[in-house]
Amino acid sequence: MARTFALVAAAAAFFGHAQSQCTAAPSQTYDYIVIGSGAGGLVIADKLSESGASVLLLEKGPLSSGKWNGTMKASWLQNTNLTRFDVPGLFNQIWVDSAGVACDDTGVMAGCVLGGGVAVNSALYWKPHSSDWDVNFPTGWKSTDMQKHVDNVFQRIPSNYIPSKDGKLYLQQGFDRVTKGLDTAGFKYVVANDAPNEKNRTYAHATFYIQNGERHGPLRSYLETAMARPKFNLWVNTGARRVVRTGGHITGVELECKNNAGRSGTVNVTPGTGRVIVSAGTMGSAKLLFRSGIGPTDQLNVVKSSPIDGSTMISQDQWINLPVGNNLNDHVGTDIQISHPDIVFYDFYGAWGSPIKADTDAYLQKRSGILAQVAPNLGPIFWTAHNGSDGITRHIQWQARIEGRTKTAMTITQYLGMGTTSRGRADITPQLNMRVATNPYLRTTQDKEAVIAGLDYVRSALNNVQGLTWITPTSSQTTTAFVNSIPATPASRGSNHWTGTCTIGSDDGRTGGKAVVDLDTKVYGTDNLFVVDASIFPGMTTGNPSGAIFAVAERAAERILALKAPAPKLIRGATRDM
Ligand SMILES: Cc1cc2nc3c(=O)[nH]c(=O)nc-3n(C[C@H](O)[C@H](O)[C@H](O)COP(=O)(O)OP(=O)(O)OC[C@H]3O[C@@H](n4cnc5c(N)ncnc54)[C@H](O)[C@@H]3O)c2cc1C
Ligand SMILES: *[C@@H]1O[C@H](CO)[C@@H](O)[C@H](O)[C@H]1NC(C)=O
Ligand SMILES: *[C@@H]1O[C@H](CO)[C@@H](O)[C@H](O)[C@H]1NC(C)=O
Ligand SMILES: *[C@@H]1O[C@H](CO)[C@@H](O)[C@H](O)[C@H]1NC(C)=O
Ligand SMILES: *[C@@H]1O[C@H](CO)[C@@H](O)[C@H](O)[C@H]1NC(C)=O
Repeated sequence: MARTFALVAAAAAFFGHAQSQCTAAPSQTYDYIVIGSGAGGLVIADKLSESGASVLLLEKGPLSSGKWNGTMKASWLQNTNLTRFDVPGLFNQIWVDSAGVACDDTGVMAGCVLGGGVAVNSALYWKPHSSDWDVNFPTGWKSTDMQKHVDNVFQRIPSNYIPSKDGKLYLQQGFDRVTKGLDTAGFKYVVANDAPNEKNRTYAHATFYIQNGERHGPLRSYLETAMARPKFNLWVNTGARRVVRTGGHITGVELECKNNAGRSGTVNVTPGTGRVIVSAGTMGSAKLLFRSGIGPTDQLNVVKSSPIDGSTMISQDQWINLPVGNNLNDHVGTDIQISHPDIVFYDFYGAWGSPIKADTDAYLQKRSGILAQVAPNLGPIFWTAHNGSDGITRHIQWQARIEGRTKTAMTITQYLGMGTTSRGRADITPQLNMRVATNPYLRTTQDKEAVIAGLDYVRSALNNVQGLTWITPTSSQTTTAFVNSIPATPASRGSNHWTGTCTIGSDDGRTGGKAVVDLDTKVYGTDNLFVVDASIFPGMTTGNPSGAIFAVAERAAERILALKAPAPKLIRGATRDM
């Protein structure tokens, strides 16, 4: 399963500092306005600004990392430059206290702070398997096209499987016991990002974007280079309500001031040549398009009937009918639990309010020790691959952590990813919240076959471990009965790896195709509106997706910069394709 969390209705009280107030957007225009500062947005905003263009990055959430003046921290971090987002041992805090951090309008867990998902996630970080591109993506986005972007991403954001600065791995009993069973079953140890295509019967240490014992990633690379450029601008606490457009030509973005601390009004792109990039995440980008009159008619009618947007929504004759929200996907999560007397639990939850002094000292003074490791002590990670009766190969990533029903328990999540054929749908409610309307999990027989086959295989492998006992499934339960006992819902199977609502492809969704954006990531039926984030992924990745999303954003920047600017004259009311 998916770890549960409480949705917070409003974060305003938390951030409504007395001196803060909303300010009106200036009349200055920008060559590019990027909406959302997550995995996709941070990377593309930097790449666009590198070209010399003026770039405005809009983020609806507050600051996060201490590097950028974030303030949310455990008391032992007072008087340091660190926040909860920087210290790997505190990443679990998202499951304890998500107020003002998690999005309040997505229905499922997502980060709504500077950095989006890459500020709150577990920082697990993989070079994509070539099938992640070759099976899922269209022409121009195959592994041969993507290799240079992946290389560039991993140069700017190195991966690391020994997060502690002293070069040691801490509390490895779980890793050691489980991998004994895998070794006996014939699995091979790999350094995962040295062998991205070895994803069948292999295992590795959990691998992260952690450097110097702190969360690294695009907040500490792409955003740093962008911030150093005079024509780059970041507005936090500033949401985009919708794009302002005439037909397919976007002139600006209408703003929603958040936490009583951002900008309001409308900000415009450079007349004629300016562009808007939507990087608001799988739920957020779909929502932004719906509110801008782009999507299936049933969803646009919900917005049209809503008290919030109805009376000011773009008129129906300007709507662009595209399958936004369809093709929703996520890794299918199935949790198993084992126990072994040698396993040592560490109380990462306690590290927030009542930490062990020796551990905080080691971390603060040397960026070393258990708190440099991501909570709750992740690893090993291993992979299996399964050929389906439909001829399709499916990849499974297995992700272990030291947490469960007892102090000697480990939870291992089976993620079924690359190759899945089940898809769901996201929609919008009358309150303008996003929602998973159709669950994407196990809708096809072959997806379920792969989950069962994978689990059978790993059960027999782990039975090689001396002293191991099964918590779930119980040793007498059949794998099929166990898999069937877990509901196919986000609460039970969600992996927080949502993709697909604004799929990329050459099959134009206005005329029956599945694609919302073309091969340049431009929204069909528009001149100058693009979507660049996890929402454009046609299918699921083998591993946790952020590495692939960074590479996609690099690729998109290259293609967008190479595109001829839209014609400077605005054709009133017309929809043009270029
Ligand atoms: C708890 C958790 C753990 C995860 N663990 C991992 C992991 O270990 N490794 C991994 O690779 N992946 C992990 N993921 C998934 C990964 O973080 C996401 O796939 C990735 O961040 C998605 O990138 P994105 O650019 O599509 O959107 P996001 O990163 O979600 O960014 C979207 C951004 O847009 C902003 N936004 C939304 N709407 C608007 C608007 N209207 N106006 C302005 N701003 C807006 C949001 O606040 C957010 O900052 C995890 C996700 C979660 C939630
Ligand atoms: C905090 O300061 C240290 C020492 O100067 C630096 O190495 C680190 O990058 C800083 N971290 C953040 C999050 O600003
Ligand atoms: C952080 O604070 C410094 C000093 O006040 C300021 O110059 C800088 O612009 C701030 N950065 C952000 C991202 O708010
Ligand atoms: C994975 O490895 C197993 C064992 O060697 C093999 O039977 C299976 O065909 C492989 N799967 C794929 C998809 O290559
Ligand atoms: C499984 O599929 C892979 C990839 O298509 C192929 O290389 C392999 O031979 C297949 N294995 C079996 C056992 O069919």
